[in-house]
Amino acid sequence: MKIQQNISLKPYNTFGIQANAKRFVSVNSVKELKEILASEKAIFLLGGGSNILLTKDVEKLVIHLNTKGIIVNDLGAEEVLVTAEAGENWHELVLWCVSQNYGGLENLALIPGNVGTSPIQNIGAYGVEIKDVFQQLEAINIETGKTKIFTNADCDFEYRNSVFKNGLKGKYIIINVTFQLTKKNHNINISYGAIKDLLSDKENPSIKEIADAVIAIRQSKLPDPKKIGNSGSFFKNPVVTSDLFIELAKKYPEIPHYIISEEEIKIPAGWLIEQCGFKGKRFGDAGVHEKQALVLVNYNNASGKEIYDLAQKIQQKVLETFKISLEIEVNII
Ligand code: EPU
Repeated sequence: MKIQQNISLKPYNTFGIQANAKRFVSVNSVKELKEILASEKAIFLLGGGSNILLTKDVEKLVIHLNTKGIIVNDLGAEEVLVTAEAGENWHELVLWCVSQNYGGLENLALIPGNVGTSPIQNIGAYGVEIKDVFQQLEAINIETGKTKIFTNADCDFEYRNSVFKNGLKGKYIIINVTFQLTKKNHNINISYGAIKDLLSDKENPSIKEIADAVIAIRQSKLPDPKKIGNSGSFFKNPVVTSDLFIELAKKYPEIPHYIISEEEIKIPAGWLIEQCGFKGKRFGDAGVHEKQALVLVNYNNASGKEIYDLAQKIQQKVLETFKISLEIEVNII
């Protein structure tokens, strides 16, 4: 294990932003991670780099968690527990589970990032969030070096949120995550409109067919970070009061929405941003994706600050137009 000096983080963040790590170390085992933590407390943990926007160089020691491994614990005819190390690539884990015909993660295909960061924002897509199949995770307390198990309830999962973004932010490093998956085609979720449409001719779609549908939908509207830098949805979908919603619906009868409760309505941020005229707009190398306005993109050499400035411009315009504050989902560094 070698600590390197002044390493470019461009290949380590899916936005493809240039920023340097003053010191950088790649760790391949939990043992190595514990060794580092014994002497270093001011650390910056880097997983798949899919949910960060780097606006400056990182002064703390950057630890790139590169631990690999998948363990299966068979629970009989119906279910199986799959434990993956934090450094496993998320999409590769999903594909592996699909290849074994283990159901539960297929709706989450092609989400960029690694296993270890997936619980932090409770990643979700097409009607499924990881909390639906999450069994437990193991994490190391940075301060004490001790390992702790977190159950589903311990994680306080909510829409794009968990205890690791709140009370325990920066306190733990997730080292592995266990999912409870099904060996039968039950509990599959094809409620999401676009998936239902793609699978309309299939009576009982297989796990692989659902994964293929999700991959096709994502590829049709979300940019591939290997080609255009991005971090997926840049903002959360806002939840507004029913009073504000009624007021907006008078002016915009076509406003898409999901009813959460009698008082709360969720509105797709992508629609709000598109209405404000930003969809497909480019400002230098920073832009708003042409097919999904919720995704900000780096066409080539945008700085983190340029992307952040664009995000603030969007927030301001959406606030003026709709009286809605958009919350940024990505971690701004
Ligand atoms: N819409 C527009 N214009 C746009 C984008 C969206 O009008 O440019 C409207 C459309 O009416 C559409 C609705 O928004 O019907 C919803 O769009 P979409 O199905 O693309 O989903 P989303 O709400 O924009 C969320 C997640 C995505 C996830 C999809 C599918 C958040 C912040 N984003 O997006 O997650 O893939 O649902 O489940 O909740 C991510 O987090 O990185 C991500 C991509």
